[in-house]
Amino acid sequence: IGSAEFVVIANRLPVDRVVGPGGETLWRTSPGGLVTALEPVMRRKGGAWLGWHGAPDEQMEPFTHAGLDLVPVPLSETEVVEYYEGFSNGTLWPLYHDVIAPPEFHREWWDSYVAVNRRFAERAAQIAAQDAVVWIQDYQLQLVPAMLRELRPDVRIGFFLHIPFPPTELFQQLPWRREILEGLLGADLVGFQLPGAAQNFIRLVRQRVGHKTHRDAVYLPDGRVVHARAYPISIDAKGFEELARTPEVIARAAEIRESLGSPDTIVLGIDRLDYTKGLRQRIRAFGELITDGAVHVDDAVFVQVATPSRERVDQYRLLRDDIDRLVGRINGDVGRIGQQPITYLHASYPREEMAALYRAADVMVVTPLRDGMNLVAKEYIACRWDDRGALVLSEFAGAAGELKQAYLVNPYDINGMKARLLEAMRATRKENSRRMKGLRKQVMENDIDQWANDFLADLRADPETHHKTT
Ligand code: G6P
Repeated sequence: IGSAEFVVIANRLPVDRVVGPGGETLWRTSPGGLVTALEPVMRRKGGAWLGWHGAPDEQMEPFTHAGLDLVPVPLSETEVVEYYEGFSNGTLWPLYHDVIAPPEFHREWWDSYVAVNRRFAERAAQIAAQDAVVWIQDYQLQLVPAMLRELRPDVRIGFFLHIPFPPTELFQQLPWRREILEGLLGADLVGFQLPGAAQNFIRLVRQRVGHKTHRDAVYLPDGRVVHARAYPISIDAKGFEELARTPEVIARAAEIRESLGSPDTIVLGIDRLDYTKGLRQRIRAFGELITDGAVHVDDAVFVQVATPSRERVDQYRLLRDDIDRLVGRINGDVGRIGQQPITYLHASYPREEMAALYRAADVMVVTPLRDGMNLVAKEYIACRWDDRGALVLSEFAGAAGELKQAYLVNPYDINGMKARLLEAMRATRKENSRRMKGLRKQVMENDIDQWANDFLADLRADPETHHKTT
């Protein structure tokens, strides 16, 4: 038995180990929404963060980094291929995102997923104090709740899924569907981004595992009650706003505008380079606005930042090639000397640079084909402290449920997307500021502390009391 009263378990630590030019260890912020959301929570609450450190085949002792207690879990090169790139990102990721890419089912990948989940559970069992609260994160670790409960029945176990949970018809394709459901049922509370996802889970548990359910509760034969509910995740909204108000960020935003030729409109996209993000559709829509003549190449620039992600997985390589070609063709067709309609950056940037980009952008486009929440949309809003700017947002991002004043689009409908983009670009300042005020109220009032406190309060509540109040 260890000494950590509060433990977060995620596939990744908030920082990745990378090797610097002189062979020295450098720590780089890990990509993705999970880390953006949880890092400030852990900074304020304290506790241990258990996760992979990003370097295959390397053992590493627990350490403290920037005030966070980090407990590395090692992965071998084969496990990176089979558990992480394979089962997590070649099977579950596409399956849970509406099979936008075809999921692959391989038995060796599954075996590796089981083995790695067991390692995470065992490590958590070692470090958690008596009656600790352990909070397991995301699709890479869905077996950990049940494995941990077996090892440590004293601890309170929460699980949160950051990505969508698929409709029952899709989930049933998974050869290991029952094992995954039983893994999740090891938790006391299973959290999802949206109510529909929690309902999908409850329905599957009733149909596939045969447990009794009532509203958000599952009744297990041993008398335990598991709850499944929605907790829409958010960001450190005040932190982002403060950053966006610093003189450095304001100056950098002005510099970015100038480097882009001070156009009337800067349109911005920032995403991990992922096939769920609707990049092809978005770039095509902007390109057509220029070739149609609706937008003049002198007047608008589209900046797309695509953060490198899962680069060895086939679907991600194909996507990268496609985007390279698409951007090259549009710039080649309609660009002029010194005027490229699309500035495409395949790179990851620190928070300060992102905030400056958000400040520089008149229109932000977030058009995923499916997305659990999408925190880039919320970051943009948090940075618009002057109530200016416009957000074009996909109906298929979880965030669309809360961000009603955005210009909502169906990213599969290119004409519809072109029309909405034009509308956002041409709207009066008054109209956009009316919308932005509404968006800001939502984001500033529902920040990440609220999310964590809501989840943890429900997790700590006595299950029976909790049941009676719902
Ligand atoms: C999404 C997932 C996270 C994941 C992140 C980055 O936000 O929900 O679990 O960490 O993407 O992906 P990566 O595979 O690089 O960890």
